[in-house]
Amino acid sequence: MTGPGGGGRGGRNFPSKLPKLDAKTFARLIRLIYQEHTVRLVVVVAAILVSSLASVAGSVFLRILIDSYITPMAGQGPGVSFAPLIGALMKMALIYASGVIATYTYNRLMVTVSQRTLKTIRDTMFSHMQGLSIRYFDTRSHGDLMSLYTNDTDTLRQMVTQSIPNFISSIVTVTAIFIAMLATSWQLTIVVVISLTSMLFISSRIARKSGSHFMAQQKAIGATNGYIEEMINGQKVVQTFTYEERAIERFEALNEELYVNAFNANRYANILMPIMGNISYIQWVIVAIVGGTLALSGLAPLTLGAIASFLQLSRTINMPINQMAQQLNAVAMALAGTKRIFDLLDEKPEPDLGYISLTHATRSEDGTLLPTCDSTSCVWAWRDEKRGTLTPLAGHVQLLDVDFGYTEETLVLKDVSIDALPGKKIALVGATGAGKTTITNLINRFYDLADGKIRYDGININRIRKGELRKSLGVVLQDTHLFTDTVMENIRYGRLDATDEEVLEAAKMANADFFISHLPHGYQSELDGGGTSLSQGQRQLISIARAIVANPPVLVLDEATSSIDTHTEAVVQQGMDALMAGRTVFVIAHRLSTIRNADMIMVLDEGRIIEAGNHEQLMKIEGQYWRLYTGVFELE
Ligand SMILES: Nc1ncnc2c1ncn2[C@@H]1O[C@H](COP(=O)(O)OP(=O)(O)O)[C@@H](O)[C@H]1O
Ligand SMILES: [Mg+2]
Repeated sequence: MTGPGGGGRGGRNFPSKLPKLDAKTFARLIRLIYQEHTVRLVVVVAAILVSSLASVAGSVFLRILIDSYITPMAGQGPGVSFAPLIGALMKMALIYASGVIATYTYNRLMVTVSQRTLKTIRDTMFSHMQGLSIRYFDTRSHGDLMSLYTNDTDTLRQMVTQSIPNFISSIVTVTAIFIAMLATSWQLTIVVVISLTSMLFISSRIARKSGSHFMAQQKAIGATNGYIEEMINGQKVVQTFTYEERAIERFEALNEELYVNAFNANRYANILMPIMGNISYIQWVIVAIVGGTLALSGLAPLTLGAIASFLQLSRTINMPINQMAQQLNAVAMALAGTKRIFDLLDEKPEPDLGYISLTHATRSEDGTLLPTCDSTSCVWAWRDEKRGTLTPLAGHVQLLDVDFGYTEETLVLKDVSIDALPGKKIALVGATGAGKTTITNLINRFYDLADGKIRYDGININRIRKGELRKSLGVVLQDTHLFTDTVMENIRYGRLDATDEEVLEAAKMANADFFISHLPHGYQSELDGGGTSLSQGQRQLISIARAIVANPPVLVLDEATSSIDTHTEAVVQQGMDALMAGRTVFVIAHRLSTIRNADMIMVLDEGRIIEAGNHEQLMKIEGQYWRLYTGVFELE
């Protein structure tokens, strides 16, 4: 896939003006590489110097070869000794050979440097990403995040292995050639400078034309790729709504735009090469004529060797000069990607100022908690790391006047207060978008409140470490997420140290055992692509089993059984009831029959609690719940 920076090979090679280099990002990248590869980098730079100088030295040596060896030999008759010439040629071969070895050395080292740097960057990015808030992921498309690992790291690799070394080598070569030219003949140097200037002028004129098309091409590539990705993800919806033709039409429009822009960008770029080639031949001829004239007329003391060597130099200067512009542009592009990578790394991890964690404790006879436990009498407790106090883990969750909005402008929850006593079942009821899932997101601390408090066993949840808080909550969501692994491991995900027996027991309790044992490899069956080979209901059963294994005091069931048929649900319900016994449960369900027996039903409407009470109480007041229950209003 070609993404930003990976696109058309023509356009970007010829910038209309010198690209802006992001010096800060560049310095940071170099520092990063230098830290790990100090010695390698020093060797690389030295090898680049040797390799560029060797290529120039070859051309300079040509002069000595002709003037001191070949010309004197020309006048002598037969019997001339070739030994000195061969010796000189050997020296020249040695110079070129050292250039080859140096080139090999730095390229080989750069592969190690760049691949290791990439590995480090990928590792750091991924582990850093794990610490970022849900909010961060909310506001970015998956495609954007993915491209950090694909396009951006790839352009970074190209820059480190090719562009930067080539750029350094080009600068050294051009400087060396220029000095060598000046030393040979200042008159001829002027000729070359004039011709080079005109070449650069023409190429920048052409590049200015292709520059804007090139930007348009990159944008079109992004739009086309984005569309393809969306259509692949939504293929089922596309086919269900027979949207295919519209999809094809839109794609053709995008593709046409890509074609036009790519064509224009590359048209100019492709003209450039042959033009440059021809101009450099003209330059060669002019230098030869001027040089010959100067020498013959005696205006300048030019020997045959000097002219030959100069011609060779003037041919070799074109390539590095053209390359410098190309490499500079490639570096600028890659730095934009590198900056995106650094931006991710700079993204502040979710702050967690919690200092209260879960611990094992023993309840002594007078009811107080002791911070140690032997295996028989352990209970869970919250331990305040600052004060050393212990609070029993009971599962009492209170929301006090909670206000919350995903964005600052709109509040999704307003003045929500819920008191979920230990072991009680709290049902949240309300239309889609009322804010039910949002409440569970807050209990989980996925987001911070705008106002109000949430307490867990009397402790403000902001003071509880996020990981520990989440460990004490079992969450079963509507859109289950299964990982590419065996069924066994997917259930064990609830508690990593659960034994196989515990996993099995949980699966039985969730009523998942029946279908799992009918899978080809039972509990060892591999699930791919988030468990696409299972029905949605089966996936939910697995995630219920996952919550059972975790054995938390507080459960959140967000439409946990919505995709299970009524018959299976009745069976699962037994397991669920067993699961819920003795725990505080927040249950969200569309089928009101499943929440009838809740201790407290909270009816939400546009982020406010409008009614609260048990089934009988709410039926009696004949409000919203009554309307929903009796079917006067349908949910959704
Ligand atoms: N990640 C999010 N970013 C912005 N708005 C959101 C996000 N999730 C939900 N919302 C909005 O918050 C409101 C409540 O959503 P939610 O709590 O999911 O409703 P439900 O009661 O159906 O579970 C909706 O208007 C929804 O559009
Ligand atoms: Mg919801």
